[in-house]
Amino acid sequence: MEQIKTIAFVGAGNLAWHLAPALENAGHIIKYVYSQNSENARTLVNRLYNAEVKEDLDFSDSNCDLIIIAVKDEAIEGVATELIIGENTRVVHTSGTQPMSLLGYLATEQIGVFYPLQTFSKSRNVEFEKIPICVEAQTPGLHEELMVMGKAISRKVWYVDTNDRKVLHLAAVFSCNFTNHLFLLAKELLERRGMDFEILHPLIIETVQKAIEIGPENAQTGPAIRRDNEVIDFQKSYLSFDEGMAELYQKLTDSILEHLPNPEKENP
Ligand SMILES: NC(=O)c1ccc[n+]([C@@H]2O[C@H](COP(=O)([O-])OP(=O)(O)OC[C@H]3O[C@@H](n4cnc5c(N)ncnc54)[C@H](OP(=O)(O)O)[C@@H]3O)[C@@H](O)[C@H]2O)c1
Repeated sequence: MEQIKTIAFVGAGNLAWHLAPALENAGHIIKYVYSQNSENARTLVNRLYNAEVKEDLDFSDSNCDLIIIAVKDEAIEGVATELIIGENTRVVHTSGTQPMSLLGYLATEQIGVFYPLQTFSKSRNVEFEKIPICVEAQTPGLHEELMVMGKAISRKVWYVDTNDRKVLHLAAVFSCNFTNHLFLLAKELLERRGMDFEILHPLIIETVQKAIEIGPENAQTGPAIRRDNEVIDFQKSYLSFDEGMAELYQKLTDSILEHLPNPEKENP
């Protein structure tokens, strides 16, 4: 089995910002970075050892083993259509939502997906070795190569096909994006009364740790699970300044109630 050594990035956003140095630290050579705005490619190149800015999508003479397409989801197909690759260059994208077949336009069978399941922002460091990496490939050879590359940077590498990856991404939207949005709404509620979000930090940390340690199904507390209608009615009416938030409160309360363990099942 050949190993992936030389790599080019197409896209220099949040994900590439973290993945490119992680691969470099694991012994890969990042040769090129292309980004629509070459200034963004330059900023990433400055974080790397030997990489150069690539000004176009013609990689036919680049001698790269792998091209990693890390552009926003709706741009992957367009990039795959324009990308010109050299002989024996493999190509992956890094999206949780997009099918591997999106790369079917390319003049190679060696296509795949290398999806790190984490939230990446340039301003925040991540420990790559703890990040699950979901790998899919069209050929067994590329599958093996991507598993090896994944294991070079992470302790958790899994085969996940396109359909499962889409559901995994949906689960990630619930656990990360929606949860974070609820944190924002909580912060805004406090700020309306001149209080600081910091007061919630220990609660947020304990909530997440408890859900991981004992399972979310065993961790719920609060007025909904206690069926405390007086508190629920007060909180809903307090939110009357924002119809959307009041509706969200009701929907989440209903959802908690719908997921309560069935007492009839427990005590038949
Ligand atoms: N961020 C995460 O938490 C995360 C986690 C796992 C997977 N992913 C996946 O990784 C991929 C990149 O995500 P990201 O968060 O790094 O995105 P991002 O920070 O928004 O970066 C987007 C990149 O896409 C390029 N781009 C935007 N529109 C384009 C177009 N029409 N044509 C060509 N290039 C275009 C941008 O180029 P310019 O800025 O130079 O214009 C930039 O290099 C996505 O598939 C995403 O689903 C992201």
